[in-house]
Amino acid sequence: MKDFLISPSILSADCARLGEDTANMLASGGDMVHFDVMDNHYVPNLTMGPMVCKALRNYGITAPIDVHLMVKPVDRIIPDFAKAGATYITVHPETSEHLDRTLQIIKDYGCKAGVAFNPATSLSYLDYVIDKIDLILLMSVNPGFGHQSFIRSNLSKLCQARKLIDISGNYIHLAIDGGVKVDNLSEIADAGANMFVVGSAIFNTKNYQKVINTMRKILDQITHS
Ligand code: DX5
Ligand code: ZN
Repeated sequence: MKDFLISPSILSADCARLGEDTANMLASGGDMVHFDVMDNHYVPNLTMGPMVCKALRNYGITAPIDVHLMVKPVDRIIPDFAKAGATYITVHPETSEHLDRTLQIIKDYGCKAGVAFNPATSLSYLDYVIDKIDLILLMSVNPGFGHQSFIRSNLSKLCQARKLIDISGNYIHLAIDGGVKVDNLSEIADAGANMFVVGSAIFNTKNYQKVINTMRKILDQITHS
């Protein structure tokens, strides 16, 4: 397994040609698919549901799909995404009345579980659930839209999260989501992230392969302790 994973967010893909654009991104070197689900309630935007996830699977997308749920309430929709082919299901603690139960639902349906942290959300939620998760996703923008600027306080938060993962001894991915570009990738990786959600910096260019290759080269020069 690769140390570093590039997880392009199809929020910035061409919605009218989503299957083709996603396949093109994967053929260009993306490791997985980041699937942003927004409900116009928890976040001020409305995007894709389980039907679209299922449609991507039916189209032939076999890569892991990380379904990032920005949906409140969240529990009811989890089984639908599991049945639609999600690999990871990542939830925000604020969207659940009972985070432990929500994570258990994700596991019960055979998916890997992730917890997402907004820029102002404390990592203390991890105190009692770190043994139940496969992925920690730090939001480096406020959730709702692509193409926002990276909030730099997340660099120290990444270091904190990396320490917590190391202390736990568990195999947990540390993902960063929002404002990730070629220019800031190196310092983000140095801070401890191993999974990089990248939307506009890939999909708003013509040559996905060129950007992904450039990112890969930057990451190749970094080794985690
Ligand atoms: C924001 C989403 C992100 C977004 C990232 O709420 O969770 O995944 O698509 O897009 P960029 O890379 O353009 O900031
Ligand atoms: Zn996301």
